[in-house]
Amino acid sequence: MKAVGSYKSLAVNEPEAFLDVEVETPKATGRDLLVAVKAISVNPVDTKVRKRPHPDETLRILGWDAAGVVTEVGDDVTMFEVGDEVYYAGCITRPGSNSEYQLVDERIAAKKPETLNFAESAALPLTTITAWESLFERLGISKGGKDAGKSILMIGAAGGVGSIAIQLARKLANLNIIATASRKESSDWCIARGANHVINHYEDIPAQLDALGHPQVDYVLCLTNIAGYWKTITDVVKPQGKICTIVDFFEDGNLDLLKPKSATFAFEFMFTRSMHHTEDMDEINALLTETAAMIDSGELITTVAEVISPINAENIRKVHATIEEGRAIGKYVLEGWD
Ligand SMILES: NC(=O)c1ccc[n+]([C@@H]2O[C@H](COP(=O)([O-])OP(=O)(O)OC[C@H]3O[C@@H](n4cnc5c(N)ncnc54)[C@H](OP(=O)(O)O)[C@@H]3O)[C@@H](O)[C@H]2O)c1
Repeated sequence: MKAVGSYKSLAVNEPEAFLDVEVETPKATGRDLLVAVKAISVNPVDTKVRKRPHPDETLRILGWDAAGVVTEVGDDVTMFEVGDEVYYAGCITRPGSNSEYQLVDERIAAKKPETLNFAESAALPLTTITAWESLFERLGISKGGKDAGKSILMIGAAGGVGSIAIQLARKLANLNIIATASRKESSDWCIARGANHVINHYEDIPAQLDALGHPQVDYVLCLTNIAGYWKTITDVVKPQGKICTIVDFFEDGNLDLLKPKSATFAFEFMFTRSMHHTEDMDEINALLTETAAMIDSGELITTVAEVISPINAENIRKVHATIEEGRAIGKYVLEGWD
């Protein structure tokens, strides 16, 4: 089968950072599905793993977002059949989705939304899992409306994760969403996805919150640069408020700043369930299934910014370069094999 991979840890412009290769098609066993990958999307994690040291120089296939068709099932599979159209992010400790066929555990896959094509579906899984777990599990926000009207500050909200987090927070929790974005196009994107307000993360955040009449917020979801925003976040979170971040903390981060407010801090890592095979790993199937239903009923709109074809080394390189600039709006998707 075709795949795009690399044997070395290289900068985005290095010729060998992305190679079109032929590898053996894997076989489905146990609870694995073998999926014919029709579309993929690229996330910042791809660029981070690409740059990670890779001393053994074996072929590394990146990619943690896909939509495709099940072509084979392992003996223990109970939730899917050959021919099902699925979407999933996969597991960080297994080969990624930048390949014509990929194995994925059935518990972390779901049937794709019926009203979306493969490209639109591939934009969703990784960011949806992240946003869902951040909002409803780490921050403990009610999906049933008990927290309606409470405020959330989402920092870096026009990116892939924010694009779906805004929508879930609005549709399922009816929160008052204060998104941050620094450009007109990223700001408009957040409003179009349901943000109630947008403020600029490069200007004085407390002053802008004051001007909106929300000097303090119930929740903060920090989607970027927690180090740079930490002091501000601890200033603007309400007493007993909650903070979640999806990015790495910083060496000398001072958690003591939370003590006077008894505020809660949580990390979200969307690969936790898959990499540790937690008992509730099938919650990922459940949340992706619920999201697909919300898409099909028109409650959620696409997060796709651009679809590029075909899936090959050169096109994946281009998207990595865009993402590394840190100015992506929504999701970049690649579709079809040559
Ligand atoms: N823990 C997890 O499970 C998990 C899951 C997914 C992603 N992540 C990580 O979360 C981060 C965000 O992911 P993503 O997919 O949303 O990224 P993305 O799509 O690349 O985000 C791009 C957006 O970030 C904003 N941005 C860039 N620099 C910023 C800054 N200094 N302050 C505030 N906003 C800034 C930009 O907004 P403007 O152009 O408006 O400035 C841009 O729209 C990445 O580091 C990713 O690796 C973690």
